[in-house]
Amino acid sequence: MSDPIGSDEEQFELNVRPTKLVDYIGQRQVKENLRVYMRAALNRREALDHVLLTGPPGLGKTTLANIIAHEMGAMLHSTAGPSIEIPGDLVGQLTNLQKGDVLFIDEIHRLNPTIEEKLYPAMEDYEFDLMIGQGVVARTQKIRLEKFTLIGATTRPGLLTAPLRDRFGIAFHLDFYPPADLEIICKRSAQILEVEIDEQGAREIARRSRGTPRIVNRLLRRVRDYAQVDYDGRISQEVASDALNRMEVDKFGLDERDRKFMMTIIEKFDGGPVGIGTISAAIHEEKDSIEEIIEPYLIQIGFLDRTRRGRMATRRAYEHYGITPSLSVKPGLFDSQ
Ligand code: ADE
Repeated sequence: MSDPIGSDEEQFELNVRPTKLVDYIGQRQVKENLRVYMRAALNRREALDHVLLTGPPGLGKTTLANIIAHEMGAMLHSTAGPSIEIPGDLVGQLTNLQKGDVLFIDEIHRLNPTIEEKLYPAMEDYEFDLMIGQGVVARTQKIRLEKFTLIGATTRPGLLTAPLRDRFGIAFHLDFYPPADLEIICKRSAQILEVEIDEQGAREIARRSRGTPRIVNRLLRRVRDYAQVDYDGRISQEVASDALNRMEVDKFGLDERDRKFMMTIIEKFDGGPVGIGTISAAIHEEKDSIEEIIEPYLIQIGFLDRTRRGRMATRRAYEHYGITPSLSVKPGLFDSQ
């Protein structure tokens, strides 16, 4: 990304990111298929076909893009949908690419439609139609591009247009990681951070990380702080559990933001159904961050139902927050469960 590396957290994320496919933990099917496609392209001395990576934030889409470039022996050029504002920005990126290079476009669903259309011939025929001049004297000039690989990443596959989606020869969806994989990621990161952690300590952090490697790494760094200040520096289950409780991360990994979201549906709207716009106004969160960050994990753990009439809290959510559905609850509240 063109953003400068700001925080220690970002720097750490970069340091822990694997650059080889064998070091990438979990997502077995993705890894196995990707290994075949890359090997085949390398044997044929071709650029890898364009790759679309979808899935919730923090699951390793950028990491995979890095790995692909590294394994293909190619340069990685990174940008993001909203950063490409005019066709000139795109042509600049594209003409910079050498044969086989990887262009990574994060948040590709946020490309503006004019730019998106310019991308089609680039993807399909490695050509760019450059407009020269304006009005009656306007003409287009075709620019030849090197054969490159576009990697598009998005948290919102539903917002992609069909023509764009169809131009990716390879598409992978990343899912939340099971705790066992997160535990391995946690131990690996602890080694890089040079902090001692035992099996149970890693398990505790993994269990409360919402299926997300980025959250594992974030929580690990914070737990390390507690371990070093209030304990002997080592992370055991007791240390991890105390630290995470003090950070108000509950046993499902839900934090204050999730709680506020669920409690608003349960208490203010009687469990739902309630529209996303209404919830957004009630909790002062952008609709996009609710849909991209908060909801996917709550749906995955069975706390939230997305229905045609709106969002609904499930029986599990009531139980988790220790709330008994009131008798005034509309008949059929739990019908879909
Ligand atoms: N860091 C982030 N995602 C990872 C993964 N899947 N494997 C190893 N390290 C990671």
